[in-house]
Amino acid sequence: MASNSVTVRVPAKVNLQLSVGPRESDGFHNLVSVFQAISIFDDVTITKQSPGHGISISITGEHTHGVPEDASNLAVKAAALVGSKFDFDVDVHIDVKKSIPVAGGMAGGSADAAAALVAMDSLFNLDMSREELHALGSELGSDVPFMISGGTAIGQGRGDQLTAALSRGTYHWVLALSSVGLSTPAVYSECDRMRAELEIAPPAVSDHLMQSLLAADADAVGRALVNDLQNAACSLRPALSLVLEVGRDYGALGAIVSGSGPTVAFLVADEDAGLDLAVALTASGVVGSVARAHGPVHGAKVI
Ligand code: C5P
Repeated sequence: MASNSVTVRVPAKVNLQLSVGPRESDGFHNLVSVFQAISIFDDVTITKQSPGHGISISITGEHTHGVPEDASNLAVKAAALVGSKFDFDVDVHIDVKKSIPVAGGMAGGSADAAAALVAMDSLFNLDMSREELHALGSELGSDVPFMISGGTAIGQGRGDQLTAALSRGTYHWVLALSSVGLSTPAVYSECDRMRAELEIAPPAVSDHLMQSLLAADADAVGRALVNDLQNAACSLRPALSLVLEVGRDYGALGAIVSGSGPTVAFLVADEDAGLDLAVALTASGVVGSVARAHGPVHGAKVI
């Protein structure tokens, strides 16, 4: 019997490298983004509804505050995009069970869009290739193609043109979460403002990072973490500098603002070190809440 409902599990991401070129005439920036998918997941369930229902959405789970429950939600846009591409009326309900922090620099919205594309493909037997899914994904947001693929990858252009990155080993993360998100366009604008007088070189993949990932050398990966948006995120949210400092003082191998923030990601040697750092960060009083995760993990997949 054909199924009426499909659930897709999709991870969050951290950027191991985020190098940002100058602002282009279309308002976007050329990027080199090295993504790693990590083990914090949203579950997106799409259920067929009777004709005329249209697309509805509900948000459940740990992190629901600030997620739009209307047509502006990226998962709704993804379902509608599939309908217009394949020329059919989409009558579905989407339930997003959120564990990925909202507006946290961990691609939560893009993850839900990626999951919705994969769920629609499966539910309506569309048999899209990976390339077709990526092409639809990049219409929805720069991070969406990566959230479909998962693992470790290099994103270029707007961050949506992916090539696989060779990575060995498992990396352990402690994440310092903020209850209030940061707007991605605002962080890019602040970055532009802060660099207005500087000559900005085109972004390039960090050889040091690539070699460290290939060698499964977490110490070296920690030292190679780099994010050109970090200063801008700290300028808009000065408390982040203190959070970074506390984690470094407690012996994190690396500390970085994730994407446009405000989540701060700490790379640690193993699970025990992660537990110790999580306790220390909580006790320090400078962090709202803490999560632990490992990567790389798979991208959006039907469960
Ligand atoms: O593509 P996405 O919708 O995720 O981008 C969100 C915002 O981030 C954009 O509106 C833009 O301000 C900024 N951005 C950028 N350059 C990129 C990707 C995103 O300036 N390559």
